[in-house]
Amino acid sequence: MIQASRNVGIVGTGSYVPEKVVTNFDLEKMVETSDEWIKTRTGIEQRRIAEENMPTSEIAYIAGKRAIEDAGLTPEDIDLIIVATITPDMYSPSTACRVQAKLGASKAAAFDVNAACTGLIYGLTVASQFILTGYYKNALVIGADELSRILEWTDRNTCVLFGDGAGAVVLQAVDNGYGILSTNLGADGSMGDVLTIPSCYIPEHEKEKRKPENYRTIWMDGSEVFKFAVRVMANATNRALDDLNLDINDVNLIVPHQANIRIIEGAAKRLGVSVNKIYSNIHRYGNMSAASIAVALDEAVKEGRINKGDLIVLVGFGGGLTWGSAIVRWSK
Ligand code: UT7
Repeated sequence: MIQASRNVGIVGTGSYVPEKVVTNFDLEKMVETSDEWIKTRTGIEQRRIAEENMPTSEIAYIAGKRAIEDAGLTPEDIDLIIVATITPDMYSPSTACRVQAKLGASKAAAFDVNAACTGLIYGLTVASQFILTGYYKNALVIGADELSRILEWTDRNTCVLFGDGAGAVVLQAVDNGYGILSTNLGADGSMGDVLTIPSCYIPEHEKEKRKPENYRTIWMDGSEVFKFAVRVMANATNRALDDLNLDINDVNLIVPHQANIRIIEGAAKRLGVSVNKIYSNIHRYGNMSAASIAVALDEAVKEGRINKGDLIVLVGFGGGLTWGSAIVRWSK
């Protein structure tokens, strides 16, 4: 929506990716694919996969702890924890509650949001409203997913695309003119069937797409998602900039959801910007769903690609279908 949070800023970032690396060459041994196909069609060279004993809450906890430290705070300072995920450890308790316990953030309220790969943008938009009203002072928003747990590892259409990871941001009031200047969220539930992961209720048409041994795997119509993604990434960015009477030339860096390098290039073309203005780490991690923007943001900050006063665009799309963007004047 419009200029929802004029002086709420990102004051800390953190991330964590599992240690185990799975390369395209490893996947060549599992399904009929090739390093060449994966690299040219997606830009992905390798991805990280979590060990069995490292569920989403654990990697989310590590990323969250790092973001809190980066903000110069302690877990007791945190008033609200939102975890964006579509791969929760359990239906209940929420992953956010499990993270709250691990952190010892005893004063924090905690809940999950489900907006798939757009989850971080949804989460930070929701959290920033609480700070804007003065209801809360410090909020931790984490994007964390382990898609590896719900992949059909014999389906080359999906298993080569995803990886596991977690990224986090701490939000706090900042000086006027800095922080999240505007956000733009959207959803089109009528297109939901193009990317699905069944859980409690499994309709017949979803069963038909999957192996009977496991109906709870990810399925998608890749080319439909691709077309949607290029369109909404550009539109969501332009809408959020329009709300501020800014244009793409004012932007220092775009940090997009990392799903496919060709989607990023397509969106750059539509926006009329050079790909050099867009941060990408997809070659290292693949698509980490809700974690992808948060990990990319943390790495861009640590690499010195983002400095105080820079105008940053965070933009993503995902299951739902959903999309979202945030325009941020960096305040650190
Ligand atoms: O975060 C949101 C989640 N999803 C996405 O972001 C996915 C968005 N979509 C995409 O990234 C792309 O559509 C894909 C990477 C999934 C596919 O790329 P594409 O250029 O749209 O390829 P395609 O679907 O048109 O398939 C081309 C061919 C097909 O073979 P036929 O039917 O032409 O003989 C596929 O079976 O490539 C085949 N193929 C593969 N071949 C080797 C599909 N996956 C693979 C594979 N290795 N891993």
